[in-house]
Amino acid sequence: MKPLIVVNFKTYSSAHGANAEMLAKFMAEADAACDSADFVAVVSAFDLASVKAAAPNLQVWTQHLDPVGFGSHTGWLHPETAIERGATGTIINHAEHKVSIDHVKNLLAQLPDGFPVCACAADLDEARALAALGPTMIAVEPPELIGGDISVTTADPEIVSGTANLVKSVNPDVRVLCGAGVKNGDDVAMAIQLGTEGVLLASGVTKANDPQGILADLVSKL
Ligand code: G3P
Repeated sequence: MKPLIVVNFKTYSSAHGANAEMLAKFMAEADAACDSADFVAVVSAFDLASVKAAAPNLQVWTQHLDPVGFGSHTGWLHPETAIERGATGTIINHAEHKVSIDHVKNLLAQLPDGFPVCACAADLDEARALAALGPTMIAVEPPELIGGDISVTTADPEIVSGTANLVKSVNPDVRVLCGAGVKNGDDVAMAIQLGTEGVLLASGVTKANDPQGILADLVSKL
């Protein structure tokens, strides 16, 4: 499988509403122009349908889901509705939206087979516990490096390679990503060298003056 470049739009003003649609279009163009990696946009639940309509060929994931069904669950993010509105995957347990292990377990049990779930881990212990549940992928992101200028691949390469080794030893089918501070093609190339299968990033794209240039650069060393 090709490396994944997963861009989390978070709640950045540059990546919500009409801006989210524009950024997703840029990502769809970058995806179409690139044979060596796949791009994924991770958008607000509010923006799922409009982003999917703006960039129908792009993988569009949601930023969180709750393991609830139809019924009395005010304010929770219902998986079936997200899928109906265009979600083709989700992240879960992001450092900015932590959940319990049971939440992840119940969500995995509820989602359709093959629906991509990227569980985020802050450290090796969390990665080990999540790997045992068998999500599609695990993204290791040291919280203190999120939003910073130094990529995790430079600041803490050991946690990247350590997580890749650990996760594969627990469950070889789980893909491993890394994130926090990833900004350019060198960071992505280093992530792959350290044993991962892609990156999860945000500010490097959402705060860029030239997102199209950054998207092209991210895959330029693959
Ligand atoms: O979900 C990606 C994220 O937490 C990393 O953010 O801004 O460091 O790329 P950033």
